[in-house]
Amino acid sequence: MAELIKIDNVTKDFPLPIRGKKLRAVDKLSLAIESNTVYGLLGPNGSGKSTTIKLLLGLLKPTEGRCLINGESVADPSIRKNIGYLPEAPYYYRFLSGTELLVYFARLQGIQKRDAKALAGNLLERVGLEDAGGNRLGTYSKGMLQRIGLAQALIGEPDLLILDEPLAGVDPIGAAEIGALIRDLKAQGKTILLCSHLLSQVEALCDKVAIMQSGKLLAEGSLDQLLVSDEDKSLLIKNLDTESRERIVKTAISMGGQVSVNRISLETLFQRLVARNKRSNSVSRANEEGENE
Ligand SMILES: Nc1ncnc2c1ncn2[C@@H]1O[C@H](COP(=O)(O)OP(=O)(O)OP(=O)(O)O)[C@@H](O)[C@H]1O
Ligand SMILES: [Mg+2]
Repeated sequence: MAELIKIDNVTKDFPLPIRGKKLRAVDKLSLAIESNTVYGLLGPNGSGKSTTIKLLLGLLKPTEGRCLINGESVADPSIRKNIGYLPEAPYYYRFLSGTELLVYFARLQGIQKRDAKALAGNLLERVGLEDAGGNRLGTYSKGMLQRIGLAQALIGEPDLLILDEPLAGVDPIGAAEIGALIRDLKAQGKTILLCSHLLSQVEALCDKVAIMQSGKLLAEGSLDQLLVSDEDKSLLIKNLDTESRERIVKTAISMGGQVSVNRISLETLFQRLVARNKRSNSVSRANEEGENE
């Protein structure tokens, strides 16, 4: 599969109000995302997910490294023509109706007025807002705003969708509908990069995930790779070292047996990595303080 997104050793520092100090939001991050995948970017609050997305969209400039989409630098604004973006906290004019907002964004993309109206109707239906198109955005609930934001991201049928927390504030039925929409987009050949804290939904939707903390990558890969943990293979055959276990697996397969491996959940992997990383960070901080004394 072709590589659509490349994040190449990217670091992003934000200056702090204290002279000479800076906050490292993204720390030497490298990722490659193939086209036609649903890719989840995960991590605790403040781990650098939204910053990574803004770097990918060319809305922020990296302190070091580079981001490429389709082999082109994201510093070139024309790259964004083929990207739909749902921001983390979308802010829309509260006095526009849902339909007017979509027509406005469609017109910005150069779509003719008449076509824009038909498109708005179609998009409202796709995100389950067909009855609310005439209502002002000021009256929309959080989940409805999220849905209209998603409709906005779909204008122009972009090949790449970057969705920063598309399920935030959406009720479980709405989340299932948005999940189905994302699957449908993938079936149409689109690539979807999303951030979410709803790990069970991520697990059901994504082909691959990256887990970040403090701007660094903790783990990356397909769910099949990540969730079949070495530790948990011992759930089936206990108390054996890796070599013996592999021999047994090989023997079992050569004898025509089927070896099933228990998967841990994405939630477990996430909690485990974050807790482990926190522990090792506090040990290294304690060591540094010890050295400074
Ligand atoms: N414009 C900015 N100026 C200064 N610091 C920033 C800026 N944007 C983000 N940060 C800091 O960078 C870090 C990463 O923030 P980011 O928004 O990327 O996190 P996140 O992983 O998206 O978190 P969340 O899950 O809460 O959305 C945080 O410590 C945040 O305070
Ligand atoms: Mg964020």
